[in-house]
Amino acid sequence: MKKINISNKTPHVIRWVEDFKYKVWDRVVNCLTGMRPSGRLHLWHFKWALENWLLMQDTQNIKNNFLIADYQVLWDHLWDTERLRSAVVNMVIDWLSVWLDPKKSNFVVQSYVPEFAELFNLLTMFTPYSVATNNPTLKDEMKKIENRWEWENSSVSLWFINYPVSQVADIMLPKWEIVPVWEDQIPHIELARKIIKKVNTMYGTSFPLPMALISETPRLVGTDGNDKMSKSLWNTIYLTATLNEIKKWVNSMYTDSWKTSVSAPWNIENHVVFKYLDIFYSDKVHLEELKKRYIEGWENSVWDWELKKLLVKILDELISPIREKREYYKNNMDLVISSIEEGSENVRKIWQELLQELKEKMWIIWYWKS
Ligand code: TRP
Repeated sequence: MKKINISNKTPHVIRWVEDFKYKVWDRVVNCLTGMRPSGRLHLWHFKWALENWLLMQDTQNIKNNFLIADYQVLWDHLWDTERLRSAVVNMVIDWLSVWLDPKKSNFVVQSYVPEFAELFNLLTMFTPYSVATNNPTLKDEMKKIENRWEWENSSVSLWFINYPVSQVADIMLPKWEIVPVWEDQIPHIELARKIIKKVNTMYGTSFPLPMALISETPRLVGTDGNDKMSKSLWNTIYLTATLNEIKKWVNSMYTDSWKTSVSAPWNIENHVVFKYLDIFYSDKVHLEELKKRYIEGWENSVWDWELKKLLVKILDELISPIREKREYYKNNMDLVISSIEEGSENVRKIWQELLQELKEKMWIIWYWKS
């Protein structure tokens, strides 16, 4: 087993492959991660998050909790809660369809655990205004919201400014230690550590300081080659895609080869199909050979349509079992509902106990006692 030394790095960031995948923890660690239910999940969610969650789910000494962060979407959909409702249900169905198992991990809906809101209320008091508003990720997101189209909601609510603190509440109470996140969320983990340290010092509590677990999966470009796969850019392959939809998106992929002349070596730097094959094709030897032939050019070359055909096959092999499971869960909604009800209830019990403990330490209960 690989031996890992993480002491010489930033203490609150651990890397998935180097530090975590091969690490043998000598005790049970609590892990929480979450997603905003903002729409159907796509390939990027699968590659960057769900695939790692599946590995974590099968690691015996990690206790996993997967959070459906509905408040992080609700503030923006107050006039359109129907969309949030269907996004929550669809996200849970997607989770189940990629084989996340509610028997092994808790699926938790943020708003099903009112203690979360109570703790959030307390934590805002520990957070200086300047610290809350100086968060680079928050600033970035606020700018994006303010630059939205006229017909969209372009005002940032007070809740949104506070969302990193709400995320601290998600993390702190049940003593989660490992928080798998995308890199942009690291400032929130830093905030969590600051706030939790403050609470611990002031009240003699021992809430662990969380660590961010970072996945090294490179960002998946959109089917148009845009840096980001996103539904608003129309460059997305959903986990619900039919074979025809996969074909449509793969065939539309940009390959850049028209730019080079026949005799010149072919350029694959902006070749979207190869970028996808890099991530999804497991036969790396064959892939290298294809690249070599493609770059060398004519005689022994491969055509774009051949690469596209290969990619369609690989993606369909990945997506078709998910599609099938999705149908199953759509016809067995009771399983979907019970997964979030049971998970939220399990977590709620822990929250209630710990919140009580914290309030005792803070001496904000039993006002009549001396
Ligand atoms: N902010 C995360 C996202 O954008 C979701 C999230 C909410 C989360 N609470 C969390 C992630 C706590 C990790 C831990 O998807």
